[in-house]
Amino acid sequence: MHITIVGSGYVGLVAGACFADMGHQVILVDNDQQKLAALNQGQVPIHEKFLPELLERHRGRSLTFSDDLRTAVEASAAVFIAVGTPPTEQGNADLSYVESVARIIPSAINGYKVVVEKSTVPVYTSEWIRKIILRNAAAPDSFDVASNPEFLREGTAVTDFLYPDRIVVGADNERCAAVLRAIYAPLTDGSYYRRQDAIPGPDRAQIPPALIITSTKSAELIKHACNAFLAMKISFINAVASVCESVGANVQQVCQGIGTDSRIGPRFLNPGIGYGGSCFPKDLMAFRAVARECGYEFRLLDEVIRINEDQRHRFLRKVHNALWTLRGKRLGVLGLAFKGGTDDIRESPAILLVQTLLQEGCKIAAYDPAAHERAREVLNSSIEYASDAYEAAREADALLILTEWDEFASLDLDRLQREMKYPIIIDGRNLYNPDVMAAHGFTYYSVGRPAVTAEPPPLAASAPPRKASHS
Ligand code: UGA
Repeated sequence: MHITIVGSGYVGLVAGACFADMGHQVILVDNDQQKLAALNQGQVPIHEKFLPELLERHRGRSLTFSDDLRTAVEASAAVFIAVGTPPTEQGNADLSYVESVARIIPSAINGYKVVVEKSTVPVYTSEWIRKIILRNAAAPDSFDVASNPEFLREGTAVTDFLYPDRIVVGADNERCAAVLRAIYAPLTDGSYYRRQDAIPGPDRAQIPPALIITSTKSAELIKHACNAFLAMKISFINAVASVCESVGANVQQVCQGIGTDSRIGPRFLNPGIGYGGSCFPKDLMAFRAVARECGYEFRLLDEVIRINEDQRHRFLRKVHNALWTLRGKRLGVLGLAFKGGTDDIRESPAILLVQTLLQEGCKIAAYDPAAHERAREVLNSSIEYASDAYEAAREADALLILTEWDEFASLDLDRLQREMKYPIIIDGRNLYNPDVMAAHGFTYYSVGRPAVTAEPPPLAASAPPRKASHS
């Protein structure tokens, strides 16, 4: 099928590359000339596994880039809108980019088109898109508006797209639903997965994925409700972690106990320094605002947001408890991205913590496997950028773990110990077993688990066994 995607941000770019890999002809439209030039030259603007391979495979063939929305729409049966919906000062989603795309579409309607919302938008947006297209002189039966929310996560975006838990299509009539069914057919009929060159899937992939058809309003709500629920799960376990800290329990054991209940499940139950990223913080505020406009005060979401912010303050208190005063202290920081596997620092709790620690007078050497370039845009040279974890730890009064990168979970602990001025680790992501850390001579603080101090050297080393001293 011929598909236009408007917006070459995270969702647009990944969707474009994946639709091309599924066998469609895709035109990715953006009005940012620099971005288009970079994409045409073969650059990959985001750090995302498998994306370079897919762009390489399809660039200039089944995936082209353009700034000409009209011509792209004329050539396509479906137009996916994947432009940004940033938050306004009041926390609503700013839909002006969506509206400006919708205004251009009518002049390019030369046959039946399906306009698909792919950006995360509030309920009723599809109705507005329809009104705007009609207002600009399109015939009512020449188009439909559908909602097809995207559930991909940064870091695993390509595999999330190609191996989704489910595909949600909000369409209010069968003609419109049929177009989206055809677009996703290579996944839902399993043919994509039988291909030799298919991108490999994760272990737990449900093949083929289910396609759920709903009304457009329900689909819009599914996206907001899904992100809000996941954020709530994280805030819930962070609150439980705080109770664990008060009573000396271990949140990891609690998680195991509750996560094995199949009604709850183990995922998104990792306590930490709070969720960040370009989605959860923004979508929670937008969902709360939509609910309020529709007459419902969604107070539960207030509390989810409050717990999330509190989680950073609690972490700062731990740093104070570990080091007493902070002015002039040298801190090693592992991780700047909002989570592992990405270079994205938007709403990153790690960046927010670094900024607060700088204000408190700390000197910081940070290492992140992918996010230095992005971090420099906001932190400039207020911190040192280390070339690996050991360099970040060098001569540090304490080491803070702020992002859950896999490589931070398997450091050479003896080497780390030797690098540091004081062997103190404050782990905001619970990457290590406290007993192992104590055995390696660290004083180790984590989230929702008792702090441990370095074990004294084994008895044999300090006092020789009695038998030996007699002889
Ligand atoms: C999230 C959703 O997971 C996707 O399904 C959705 O499509 C996407 O938002 C979106 O709306 O575009 P993403 O923001 O990429 O994806 O990241 P997540 O993996 O969900 O992590 C979000 C934050 O929660 C990160 O800061 C992460 O460190 C934190 N987190 C996650 C925890 O603190 N604990 C957990 O157990 C899981």
